[in-house]
Amino acid sequence: MDKIVSLCRRRGFVFQSSEIYGGLGSAYDYGHYGVLTKNNIKARWWEAMIQEREDIVALDSAIILNPRVWEASGHVTGFTDPLVDCKTCKLRFRADHLEQSACGRKPSKRPGETPDCDLTEARQFNLMFKTQVGALEDTGSAAYLRPETAQGIFINFKNVLQIARRKPPFGIAQIGKSFRNEITPGNFLFRTREFEQMEMEFFVPPLEADEWFAYWIEQRRAWYVRYGLRESHLRVRPHEADELAHYARAASDIEYLFPIGWSELEGIANRGTFDLTQHTENSGTKLEYVGEGGERYTPHVIEPAGGPDRTFLALLVDAYDEEVVAERDRTVLRLHPAIAPVKAAILPLIPRNGDMVEKARRLDADLRRRFMVEYDDSGQIGRRYRRQDEIGTPFAFTVDDQTLEDDTVTVRDRDSLAQERLPLGGVAAWLEEALARPWRTPKA
Ligand code: GAP
Repeated sequence: MDKIVSLCRRRGFVFQSSEIYGGLGSAYDYGHYGVLTKNNIKARWWEAMIQEREDIVALDSAIILNPRVWEASGHVTGFTDPLVDCKTCKLRFRADHLEQSACGRKPSKRPGETPDCDLTEARQFNLMFKTQVGALEDTGSAAYLRPETAQGIFINFKNVLQIARRKPPFGIAQIGKSFRNEITPGNFLFRTREFEQMEMEFFVPPLEADEWFAYWIEQRRAWYVRYGLRESHLRVRPHEADELAHYARAASDIEYLFPIGWSELEGIANRGTFDLTQHTENSGTKLEYVGEGGERYTPHVIEPAGGPDRTFLALLVDAYDEEVVAERDRTVLRLHPAIAPVKAAILPLIPRNGDMVEKARRLDADLRRRFMVEYDDSGQIGRRYRRQDEIGTPFAFTVDDQTLEDDTVTVRDRDSLAQERLPLGGVAAWLEEALARPWRTPKA
């Protein structure tokens, strides 16, 4: 993990937030390449959820909802983690994460491991951030930052049913920020207090729930493989009955083998009728499907819930590679081209050569209209290649002496390091075709 954190900082993917003020625990800011990469992840998710299907519609609901939403959803009473305090080191830990936690005293041990540790009984700690709406600070103004995007979807069920004229099975998808006052955030982007979620609620006829649950587990697993994660580092783990969330009838996690061990990348839950029933009872608005023949039922909900931040971390971990090429070390991010922040680099071989620079600049301007590309003329060509390798740029076009003679350029492949020559006029078409090719990670 340390290597990923250091690469992210060095190349401007991710910075510690509020760094000039000493930082804020487990809060991060995305820099240029991080924003581009995370936007690509979200775009691939929208494609899979909306563009490639006809049965899911998009939504972008508010972060601060009527607080009654969270009473109805069970979050006010049930969205808690067990917390213990250590009276000796004054730190707080999740009672169910003691094995992975470090005590605040040196040499750091597992909380409770030494006789000095003085842990309290576990008590339930609500993870929702409280805020207030409006200028008056009274109980009537209390509100919450949403801890999941899902509830914004459930409360819009009727709107979508009527206005988008849908009938089960159909889904509503949303990407947005969520907030949880995690007791023990950590492991870089894996667990933070402010993060994004990519959630889709799929409303189905009750008898079809099991079938759709299995279907979505496989769809989501395949999506991660499609964008480059090694199958050997992915697994599906069904939840035991005692770890199910308060709303779930069944759930499975798609887990990735992170440097911290197998951990949840995305959860798929069968939420049954829990949410629609709760909101019907608490709001007085019937959230049910009524068919043309008058048949009515409360749809069951299958929910694939992932997050772009955790996906970003998994993709970077999986893509990270070090090797020795021509007796020199090379660090390379073998990212899927559809995820890579920059698709191609344009490099004049000799930056002082005005003709090369002019041709390279023209190629850059042409490609820039259709692709995210980067022009670089600073430093030796080998160092420029390595800079691009480190941010995962799949292709580099080099303008050299021969370009000035015959209008061809060299294209270098990030993974194989193979080089070939192309006519300048054909570069855009070549790049388009190359980016559309199926891609598999060359990592074992
Ligand atoms: N609506 C269901 C739900 O929220 P979850 O398993 O708690 O389920 C879904 O969260 C996904 O959101 C996780 O798989 C993860 O990708 C992301 N996520 C949850 N908590 C997170 C955190 N503290 N930091 C980063 N990502 C988080």
